[in-house]
Amino acid sequence: MIDRDHIARLLAQRREGFSLPQGFYLDEAMHEADVRAVFETEWLFACNACEIKKPGDYLTLEVGSNPVVILRDRDGQVRAFHNSCRHRGSRICGKEKGRATRLVCPYHQWVYELDGSLLNARQMPADFDRSDYGLKPAHVEVICGMIYLCLAETPPDLSRFRQAITPFIAPHQPDRTKVAFEMTLIEEANWKLIIENNRECYHCAANHPELLASLVEFALPDDPLGPAQFQELIARKTAKWDALGLPHAPADGGDEFRCIRLPFHEGALSFTMDGGPACTKLLGDFTDPDLGSVRMFRAPNNWNHFLADNIIHFRVLPLSAGRTSLRTTWLVHEDAVEGVDYDVNRLTEVWIATNEQDSDLASVNQRGIRSMAYRPGPYAPSEFMLTHFTNWYARQMEAFAGAPAPLRVAAE
Ligand code: FES
Ligand SMILES: [Fe+2]
Repeated sequence: MIDRDHIARLLAQRREGFSLPQGFYLDEAMHEADVRAVFETEWLFACNACEIKKPGDYLTLEVGSNPVVILRDRDGQVRAFHNSCRHRGSRICGKEKGRATRLVCPYHQWVYELDGSLLNARQMPADFDRSDYGLKPAHVEVICGMIYLCLAETPPDLSRFRQAITPFIAPHQPDRTKVAFEMTLIEEANWKLIIENNRECYHCAANHPELLASLVEFALPDDPLGPAQFQELIARKTAKWDALGLPHAPADGGDEFRCIRLPFHEGALSFTMDGGPACTKLLGDFTDPDLGSVRMFRAPNNWNHFLADNIIHFRVLPLSAGRTSLRTTWLVHEDAVEGVDYDVNRLTEVWIATNEQDSDLASVNQRGIRSMAYRPGPYAPSEFMLTHFTNWYARQMEAFAGAPAPLRVAAE
């Protein structure tokens, strides 16, 4: 059961720049609170619009206990609905992905139009008004091909995010892509540990040999840990991107989001084992394969890489206090031909290995946090993005829990 006072007291114990108090990672009640305060409130990355290209294409996901279906209606508009029948609540679409001309509940076959309206409810009496029983909608926004979903009645404003990231991502023309591969990994760790793990590369040198063949582990152009060669690499690449009109300087996303273009190691072009291209057909109208990668993160559940030749989306959804689903999708140009322009194994093997390594790290992290000896520990300077994330998270939880009630003193 959610105890708002308990959450408020744990928040009061939190030290900025330190990992969170134990309960935030372990308690099932805290998982419920996270779902309410974060996942049922905020904008969540759901999928790319190219996954539901044609009318009737749909994709399902679960946000906490809420089954949701996202689909393209007959007019080509992206819509989201609670995937719960208005008769007696059965989940309607059971598959993760599919195409349907109408949504038919498997229980008693109520039939819904793609705009959510109830079309047919057999055997219901003559005075039954179908217009009262359409599917409950949820908010969706499509930004540079990315579908964001919000279950809140009044969603937070996304305009700053949209304005900041569009100049970075639009040149990659995500609306002209297709999914080359997707996978879902169930991780044995709290969702916040998955995000914390992703927000730093302090762990990369000892754990990610495949990733470091291409990725530069510094997070900022003026990273104080960056050696002279890194500064020189940045100067050369950014001069080239300036000439191409491609933005690179970090966007001002505060704690809410981050967007930056950073180079790969000298000579590397893509996330492949040898740093060579992953797809010979470049995205959009690009002719230069050496565009580094736009790294975009949005709290609470999404990070992405936009390269010259492919796009990778990562979507995090919590399943319980100690289990989290991570879905990864690799997109290539819609006209790229498998076996000719790209090889799925070559395209995906670096991040499949990296995801597995990160999953192991997060589960080991979760196990250690269970210790009676666990105390929040200090973030290193290179873990500054964890401070951003935990500050963002704490603010969401404070808004949910309110101020801690004064501890009651027993009357004498
Ligand atoms: S619950 Fe859907 S038709 Fe009965
Ligand atoms: Fe990692």
